[in-house]
Amino acid sequence: MTDQAEQASAAQSAPPEIPGKPTSASRTTLSHIMTHADTNLLGTVHGGVIMKLVDDAAGAVAGRHSGGPAVTASMDEMAFLEPVRVGDLVHVKAQVNWTGRSSMEVGVRVMAERWNESTPATQVGSAYLVFAAVDADGKPRTVPPVLPETEKDKRRHQEAQIRRTHRLARRRAIMELRERRAAEGYED
Ligand SMILES: CC(C)(COP(=O)(O)OP(=O)(O)OC[C@H]1O[C@@H](n2cnc3c(N)ncnc32)[C@H](O)[C@@H]1OP(=O)(O)O)[C@@H](O)C(=O)NCCC(=O)NCCS
Repeated sequence: MTDQAEQASAAQSAPPEIPGKPTSASRTTLSHIMTHADTNLLGTVHGGVIMKLVDDAAGAVAGRHSGGPAVTASMDEMAFLEPVRVGDLVHVKAQVNWTGRSSMEVGVRVMAERWNESTPATQVGSAYLVFAAVDADGKPRTVPPVLPETEKDKRRHQEAQIRRTHRLARRRAIMELRERRAAEGYED
């Protein structure tokens, strides 16, 4: 095939360019009052309860941004900064920080305030999740690029790119180590 024919064929098979979506188009807050059903054995709220809310809020954002189903590929840097208590009204704020071809990094900030007091909410946690947009067969599909709007969005976009680079490098290093050990005859 000539260069020209190859370029024409590549252009035909390339996915159509999807218009970008601003960060604010999918930004979402999920709020929930903590009850005794949410506690651990110490009487404070179970970390898993917060993680479920984080995953739910991030999933809604990923679905809204990508315009269809999206699955959690990974969750990292989940930080619990303060204990959450029964009677706290928890707000889970999520937004798309960065987009790749089919993946999206969603940043989540968890805030808590007493449900019946007017004191300001404080930050109790944060997390970064990667979602992959999938088609009806569960295969990755292309997502619209996110268009950061504010300076904060732009900073988060740049920081997400750093995390992405580190995730890929870590995954590659681990795969290489496993292959090397297998080649040397070690069995797990
Ligand atoms: C996530 C999933 C769709 C990826 O499928 P895959 O065949 O490995 O596809 P790819 O390797 O092309 O990955 C797709 C995208 O996800 C990213 N990705 C995949 N695994 C990832 C991980 N562990 N961490 C971060 N990103 C990841 C890839 O970098 C890629 O991003 P890009 O398209 O923007 O470059 C697949 O592993 C899956 O279905 N996992 C289960 C998800 C699920 O059920 N979650 C709910 C838990 S119960």
